Amino acid sequence: MPTVLVTGASTGIGREFARLCARDGYDVVLVARSQAPLEDLASEIRQKFGRAVHVRIKDLSSPAAPRELFDEVKASGIDVDVLINNAGFGLVGRFWKLSEAEQMEMIRLNVAALTDLSRLFLPDFIQRRRGGILNVGSTAAFQPGPLMSVYYATKAYVVSFSEAIHNEAREHGVTVTCLCPGPTRTAFDKRAGASATKLFAGGRAMDAATVAQIGWKGLKARKPLVIAGRLNATMAFLTRFAPIQFTASMARRFQENAK
Ligand SMILES: NC(=O)c1ccc[n+]([C@@H]2O[C@H](COP(=O)([O-])OP(=O)(O)OC[C@H]3O[C@@H](n4cnc5c(N)ncnc54)[C@H](OP(=O)(O)O)[C@@H]3O)[C@@H](O)[C@H]2O)c1
Repeated sequence: MPTVLVTGASTGIGREFARLCARDGYDVVLVARSQAPLEDLASEIRQKFGRAVHVRIKDLSSPAAPRELFDEVKASGIDVDVLINNAGFGLVGRFWKLSEAEQMEMIRLNVAALTDLSRLFLPDFIQRRRGGILNVGSTAAFQPGPLMSVYYATKAYVVSFSEAIHNEAREHGVTVTCLCPGPTRTAFDKRAGASATKLFAGGRAMDAATVAQIGWKGLKARKPLVIAGRLNATMAFLTRFAPIQFTASMARRFQENAK
């Protein structure tokens, strides 16, 4: 049976990816730190879709975690066909005021774990000449993000890295897709301290199921980059033509609290 591994499957977009993949006939490996929601989702998927589900509790911001996860999956005899690097978080605030430890944790999760897992799983995909990686970036990737500087920079990395390895892998029959959501209704904004910002309080956040669907469809269509939602795609397109300090000022406005 084809198998998909989803990081950050306990809530939000990752949970919707897991449901979608199972509906599409994939067995799933669910990864996150919170056991209870993963077990609940596993039961739901087994019941509704009759797929095999494996739960792995991991803190992927720990440097050793990606290798441990890969080794455990291999030792269980599971052949992963699609890797969805979805786990990630952001933080709102001035760079020098936000916790140093939390910002480094963000870089380890959003950048290092995503890179490590891609490096670990890709050789098998290349050897089999099939399979794919779906990396979750963000529309934050397309401009600097004052008041969320490290998060925006991590997502710029995700887009650049994904586009580059898409180019390297495609001639080997393997696809890499980067999904860039804009504001989406999940637990993300609460963890980031972003719920009151214009970005989230403005009422234009998309729902997680729709966003996951757009990403999954993009992967199946072998697209390198998919931006969720027409408005987000238009805004990302327009940023290409604007001076970078102008786009930074615009991003800052959205990161400020709504009145
Ligand atoms: N929501 C948005 O507006 C938005 C917009 C653009 C991009 N994104 C991106 O979309 C992705 C999914 O976010 P979401 O919106 O679905 O947020 P979410 O609801 O907060 O989900 C984040 C997921 O990541 C997991 N996670 C967090 N830290 C982890 C760690 N150290 N190790 C392993 N798993 C960890 C969480 O599970 P545990 O807490 O159980 O570990 C959870 O399953 C992220 O990469 C985010 O940057 C979100």
